[in-house]
Amino acid sequence: MKRDVIVACDFASREATLAFLDKFTDVKPFVKIGMELYYAEGPEIVREIKKRGHKIFLDLKLHDIPNTVKKAMSVLRNLDVDVTNLHAAGTTAMMKAAIEGLTREDGTRPLLIAVTQLTSTDQEAMEKDLLIKEPIDEVVMHYAETAKNAGLDGVVCSPLEAGKVHDRCGKNFLTVTPGVRFADGDVGDQKRVMTPAAAKAIGSDLIVVGRPITAAEDPVAAYKRCVSEFCD
Ligand code: C5P
Repeated sequence: MKRDVIVACDFASREATLAFLDKFTDVKPFVKIGMELYYAEGPEIVREIKKRGHKIFLDLKLHDIPNTVKKAMSVLRNLDVDVTNLHAAGTTAMMKAAIEGLTREDGTRPLLIAVTQLTSTDQEAMEKDLLIKEPIDEVVMHYAETAKNAGLDGVVCSPLEAGKVHDRCGKNFLTVTPGVRFADGDVGDQKRVMTPAAAKAIGSDLIVVGRPITAAEDPVAAYKRCVSEFCD
């Protein structure tokens, strides 16, 4: 997939989301719909944004037994999103079942990417709560390889991990990376951040950018700046 900027539409309602998207008159950004908006508005918000001509990353992070995930994915495949995701921790069996569920009768399907370890999980939490004793970088790479072997198209990861993921899983295995900030912008609650230009240099394929665009005084200008730093 061509390098692109995905705008995280972390809004609580249809009205707030559409008011934001209405500002974009000459471009149609790739949009991420997450749990907050999806649970508030349901599948109709996905159809409505798709109808407006945006590409969509539906970020629902599925994680359940293989049969349940397969059935959920077979519902999501009808929403015609471009990318969706799950937790690699659900195991190979769950990831393979997800692909089966997501694949339409004509053989097409949205891209499917995996969350490895959440960036909110650190070494200490992983060891204490999950009883995983390996170094976290190694765990992330192992989950990425497991996702690749299950047939997935890529992973969500920190931009700092994108280069290593490509080394291990190949350059066509997608790296989708949040935690992007402008050099002169607020970091907010993100801990390990990178500028769009640095994310490009390290090999991220898609960057997910929320507040640097959604909370900007001029969101369209911020989006265009992000595109020019990352894509051009
Ligand atoms: O506003 P900000 O640019 O920090 O938004 C980043 C987006 O990426 C949010 O939707 C957040 O939930 C998501 N995300 C993240 N870190 C992860 C996975 C997803 O920031 N590890």
